[in-house]
Amino acid sequence: MTPPFRIELLGQQDRESFDCGAEALNEYFRTRVSQDVRRRVSFCYVAIEEATNRVAGYYTLAACGIALGDLPEAITKRLPRYPTVPAIRIGRLAIDRDFQGRKLGGVLVFDAIDRTCKSGIAAFAVVVDAKDDRAVAFYEHHGFQRLDEMKRTLFLPIGEALKRRVKSRP
Ligand SMILES: CC(C)(COP(=O)(O)OP(=O)(O)OC[C@H]1O[C@@H](n2cnc3c(N)ncnc32)[C@H](O)[C@@H]1OP(=O)(O)O)[C@@H](O)C(=O)NCCC(=O)NCCS
Repeated sequence: MTPPFRIELLGQQDRESFDCGAEALNEYFRTRVSQDVRRRVSFCYVAIEEATNRVAGYYTLAACGIALGDLPEAITKRLPRYPTVPAIRIGRLAIDRDFQGRKLGGVLVFDAIDRTCKSGIAAFAVVVDAKDDRAVAFYEHHGFQRLDEMKRTLFLPIGEALKRRVKSRP
């Protein structure tokens, strides 16, 4: 990962000053995320700047399923005929404005994938809910495809993500 940051589970870090420029994501992080963690509907991981201990970004991660029929045929023809395909969902992802444009967003997406690979639990793909068209463009840049043209839910098969990362290494 980018050396000046470490990624850890949400704990007692200061969340009050976090500002990613999207009020709904700020408000969720300041006031609601702990409740979701307590209820075990999502876990939250934070990137901390080593030099200052500031929260530079966060993402939430939970198990989910993709209905087989929602995936493109080119993919489903290689999968067993179960009604749903196991996946993980990055429900929210945000980088503080002071840290945007330093590739931390991409690092957090791949941190979620690494965590899943190490978990010992199978997941075929990572699913994201993009909040607007700019976020869709960010995820498409990282190889995600839309699940449905009308909605902003995208997916990336984990096998493909791992191949992309190997190719992008110097
Ligand atoms: C969107 C967001 C997560 C991106 O994080 P970031 O750390 O600023 O972006 P990165 O520096 O990791 O960008 C990595 C790559 O994606 C590209 N990228 C970033 N935003 C992009 C966009 N909107 N469209 C297309 N590509 C984009 C960058 O050019 C960069 O390309 P490179 O690796 O080839 O140089 C961040 O800007 C943010 O938190 N925004 C506000 C909240 C939000 O929109 N969250 C989205 C999830 S709902």
